[in-house]
Amino acid sequence: MSLYADPTRTLTVSHLLAMKQAGEKISCLTAYDASFGALVDQCGIDVILVGDSLGMVIQGHDSTLPVTVEDMIYHSRCISKVRKRALLISDLPFASYANTDQALTHAAALMQRGGADMVKLEGSKPDIIRHLVSNGIPVCGHLGLLPQSVNLLGGYKVQGRDPLQAQSLLADARSISQAGASLLILECMPATLAAAISQAVNIPVIGIGAGIDCDGQVLVLYDMLDISISNRPRFSKNFMQDAGNIAAAIRNYHLAVKNRQFPGAEHSY
Ligand code: KIV
Repeated sequence: MSLYADPTRTLTVSHLLAMKQAGEKISCLTAYDASFGALVDQCGIDVILVGDSLGMVIQGHDSTLPVTVEDMIYHSRCISKVRKRALLISDLPFASYANTDQALTHAAALMQRGGADMVKLEGSKPDIIRHLVSNGIPVCGHLGLLPQSVNLLGGYKVQGRDPLQAQSLLADARSISQAGASLLILECMPATLAAAISQAVNIPVIGIGAGIDCDGQVLVLYDMLDISISNRPRFSKNFMQDAGNIAAAIRNYHLAVKNRQFPGAEHSY
């Protein structure tokens, strides 16, 4: 049972912070349309992420790069119409936050037209985060594997394995937190590094392929339902396998996160 179980009261950044402080794990799933969004919300998931992963799982691209701000507004709106309890985060897509003015225009559109509660941006961008926060926009950072930088990274690879890179990721996490971000997502990094980052910052840290010791977990919905067109990544798990239906799979994931049963060592680096 969550500290905040009222299915009609929308969670806020204060609730997520209180969950970190109380040691209650935060569950998060992506969703992109009203039917899945309502189901994910009703299954008790704390945070719904309208990720730009929709470029791959909805639009069929081989990366997130073609996703536009208008795409993100459209899919965010589909979710904001139906969710009741889950906090709603929307991704700022590729090249939509190259400077502070552009970031503010697009983040405001995600909130005003998309109904997002928070926007997510990839990489260490403290100036942009400060600007958004000073204009009333809650921000979620994203470090580790950055899908929008796949062409720079040379593929979808685990990040932070070497000690210098690990130190730099820890410093980036601190600067994102100090810039005023409310949440941080860590993607694809050694579990020990993600644990150290989660301890080092005061904001909640949500992991994907980042081990059990983050403050919460996120998965791409279509991966955990095993209906993605690409291969399921090692860090994800097929929750449909032991569930009779989609709602049971989502509830099992939620409980596995809350009870620290997911991710296991086999889903971690
Ligand atoms: O776009 C997305 O779904 C994401 C998650 C993988 C964290 O950013």
